[in-house]
Amino acid sequence: MRIRDSIRDLSASRIAEISALGMGDPGVIPLWYGEGDLPTPAVIADAATAALQAGHTFYTYKAGLPELRTTIAEYQTALYGRPTGPERILVTSSAMTGLMLVSQTLIDAGDNLVIVAPVWPNIAAAVSVMGGEPRLVALDSVPAGGWRLDVERLAAACDGRTRGIFVNSPSNPTGWVISPKEIAALLGLARRRGLWLIADEVYGRIVYGNRAAPSFLDQADPEDRLIVVNSFSKSWAMTGWRLGWLTVPADLHPQVEKLVEFNTSGSPNLSAARRRRRHPRRRGFHQ
Ligand SMILES: Cc1ncc(COP(=O)(O)O)c(C=O)c1O
Repeated sequence: MRIRDSIRDLSASRIAEISALGMGDPGVIPLWYGEGDLPTPAVIADAATAALQAGHTFYTYKAGLPELRTTIAEYQTALYGRPTGPERILVTSSAMTGLMLVSQTLIDAGDNLVIVAPVWPNIAAAVSVMGGEPRLVALDSVPAGGWRLDVERLAAACDGRTRGIFVNSPSNPTGWVISPKEIAALLGLARRRGLWLIADEVYGRIVYGNRAAPSFLDQADPEDRLIVVNSFSKSWAMTGWRLGWLTVPADLHPQVEKLVEFNTSGSPNLSAARRRRRHPRRRGFHQ
């Protein structure tokens, strides 16, 4: 059978393998995915039921419903130190789809992405799918407990084929949370070397004591080569809804939007719609 080498050589997800063994077995407590055991809050489920009944069942905008993009931009502006505009928000059918879109946008065969590890394995796979090299650089474990990022070692792992640096914080699986000082150091490195920074912040609200974990959005300028990957899955208990978003520089937005058409042709309208009083067609909600 003739298929692409990078797909033939790709290992199947071990997480998917394990989950397939226990899925649906009432005797097994499912700890294989990064998800809680609480159902989606009723206020969200009710709004989706109303959206379904109001006819939000058509294809929708590739970059996401304008109202949702604005709401996300306002949410981030309130939460983080710097304003984000809706022209930087791209709604995706999950963070995983967002990561795959990022990989498709940045990685040519032979390029590499430097990845802070230990890490949830799917980002490495997204790079491999494109024929790129996931280059893992391990955090140092601190004897007293916890982890430390060696920015010098990360810099040394970058070469002429490095397209960017990937950081997942708060981290799955270590729980490591990047500090504001480390964020500043990585932003400086990316600016100096002309690299993309990809920050997976899907667990950014699941922290003790604080409103949110330190974010690259606290410090970055809008024109920084920064892509922040986010999701409704974790903080809003919506793993099965498949809805997430990317925050990108405004000039990258149309490039990724093009790719949405050929991946998902837009995210689920029902998951993204808010409760409306009038019929969606009269409000021009679908294309
Ligand atoms: C670090 C990390 N990023 C992204 C995802 C995927 O999130 P989504 O459900 O939005 O695809 C996960 C899921 O486990 C994760 O652990």
